[in-house]
Amino acid sequence: MNSRRRSALITTAVLGASVVLFSQAAAFASQPAHPGPVVPPDSLRALAAPVGLRIGTAVNTDLLASNPAYTKILNSQFSSVTPENVMKWESVEPTQGTYNWAPADALVASAKANGQLVRGHTLVWHNQLPQWLTQEASSLSADQLRAILKKHITDEVTHFKGKIWQWDVVNEAFNDDGTLRNSIWLQKLGSGYIADAFRWAHAADPKAKLFYNDYNIEFTGPKSNAVYALVSQLKAQGVPIDGVGFQTHLDTQYGLPDLENNLQRFAKLGLNVAETEVDMRTTLPVTSLEQNAQVAGYTTTLQACLAVKQCISYTVWGFGDAYSWVPGVFAGEGAADIYDENLQPKPEYTTLQQTLALATGAPHRTDGHDSGDRH
Ligand code: G3I
Repeated sequence: MNSRRRSALITTAVLGASVVLFSQAAAFASQPAHPGPVVPPDSLRALAAPVGLRIGTAVNTDLLASNPAYTKILNSQFSSVTPENVMKWESVEPTQGTYNWAPADALVASAKANGQLVRGHTLVWHNQLPQWLTQEASSLSADQLRAILKKHITDEVTHFKGKIWQWDVVNEAFNDDGTLRNSIWLQKLGSGYIADAFRWAHAADPKAKLFYNDYNIEFTGPKSNAVYALVSQLKAQGVPIDGVGFQTHLDTQYGLPDLENNLQRFAKLGLNVAETEVDMRTTLPVTSLEQNAQVAGYTTTLQACLAVKQCISYTVWGFGDAYSWVPGVFAGEGAADIYDENLQPKPEYTTLQQTLALATGAPHRTDGHDSGDRH
């Protein structure tokens, strides 16, 4: 296709999206008041509502409490929230038997007030464990560690019972080569800890959707195949698992995954799927070529979710480059989010908006709980 034709097509698509946005705005203006917060008709959450998709973000609860510009974006653009850190074990039980629910409770309350569902993150992980546990673990018997894990899951899921839409029950249990990660859980309890975790979580809150969550499973390969085998086995054993979370932490240097294929094959097992931690990092300073690749990453990952009816949420892992986890972990990389350092929308935001505006023909998902944003 020659470049003139391509640019003509792009212009048409953008104009088409603009027309849809305008008509949505006009329709919104004539709508009677509806439950939940008033959200702009061209917001990500409003544009996604007609197909039943929840657009979410990880939330830095320090900013929720202190930064009005951050909170305005959070509540106007997103219909699902995930605590970035405050539901992790080190945060909720810093001292054995002493719980700190306050930061997570504040997020849950804010979500309720703003018509947002909550993704609980995360019950069983090898990282961000409280020091009292990591120090004791090696001296504990298998039965003692199992009892501690069961109590943690039961206590946390019970505390939030009825308030969590999806729980990331087990997070990152596999290595990239498809073997199980040699965490304290595997070492002491064997691979059965995974099924036990789901059973304990279900016993504490039978209505929560229980997910396995991991990264680098967006690409077909040893890791996604191993997760596929695991969740197939769990389903066959009658373990209460409802979905798989694809973290979708991407990097322009690694190209784009065959994500839709992977979402589809897991969905065909009778599971929900979700993109749970989307961001697209690149080397700094960002070149125009890298920016285009980042835009393509956000476009194609959202299109993949829209194409799969069982994909019930698309969550970015934070929305401001100034607060992203990436620079602290990947030296020389960043600019991974959809808003810039000054909380201004980037082309990555605009492409999500346009992709949603053009997705009116996408299959409707039924598990997203009507957010009240429908226009
Ligand atoms: O709370 C302490 C604070 O008291 C201390 O002063 C400060 C400086 O040392 O550290 C604070 O803890 C930090 C914590 O985030 C809370 O802000 C840790 O150092 C820091 O390592 C931790 O990073 C988090 C990271 O998980 C830990 O692995 C990131 O914010 C968070 O975005 C990231 O999220 C993970 C998901 O949970 C799972 N998927 C991968 C994703 C990215 O790593």
